[in-house]
Amino acid sequence: MTHQLRLGVNIDHVATIRNARGGDHPDPVRAAEIVARCGGDGITAHLREDRRHIRDEDLRRIQEATDLPLNLEMAATDEMLDIALAHKPHAACIVPEKREERTTEGGLDAAGLHNTIAPIVGKLQDAGIRVSLFIEASERQLDAALRLNAPVVEFHTGEYAHAHLDGDSERVSSELKRIADMAALAAKNGIEPHAGHGLTYENVQPIAAIPQLAELNIGHYLIGEAVFTGLEPAVLKMRELMDDAR
Ligand code: PXP
Repeated sequence: MTHQLRLGVNIDHVATIRNARGGDHPDPVRAAEIVARCGGDGITAHLREDRRHIRDEDLRRIQEATDLPLNLEMAATDEMLDIALAHKPHAACIVPEKREERTTEGGLDAAGLHNTIAPIVGKLQDAGIRVSLFIEASERQLDAALRLNAPVVEFHTGEYAHAHLDGDSERVSSELKRIADMAALAAKNGIEPHAGHGLTYENVQPIAAIPQLAELNIGHYLIGEAVFTGLEPAVLKMRELMDDAR
């Protein structure tokens, strides 16, 4: 099934729970199979340098278990580049990574890190991997993505999600406008805009309504909801909210 606005489900936190006990359960591959069965459009997985959730062998197992495109989130390092080139996921999303952070706390400084990122983008593209850059919705970062020839950018929606949690409607509006304006500018320049981070049932619809966005990547909230409702109903509900917003 293809959707106008694709939903990539980030299954990292199934692996977080698995790793808490060091065994094989719950298996992120089983989550990927459920996402495929209930109409998710892609699987997103972040192989972090400290392997705190997804492990190297999970990538191959996910690729073998489903036909869904795999979006590998990766730091701009030689180690991760080698792993991406070995696995050839459908897409690679370059993210900033700090060991001490709990999650990806801000966008990639694509402008400041041009010289580090450029060869990695080039090698991924040469291998036929669709590159995306996880950036703040700003003209400076979008301009850097253009100079790096990235076909896709993913806008970090963390500030928007925080404003929503704080009940700060002015900040919610200004964050939304920033993302909508940059999505329009990206599309005008031939870059496909995506968005993700901190999206929930409560805050997804205004983001999903931004017409240029082609994909949302959502993880933590969906896996959290799955504890109460099961993963399939959680994905289906998110899918329905996204479709209703269009
Ligand atoms: N997109 C990217 C690039 C991410 O790194 C993450 C995880 O931080 C997400 C989307 C999903 O964010 P969340 O787990 O908050 O839904």
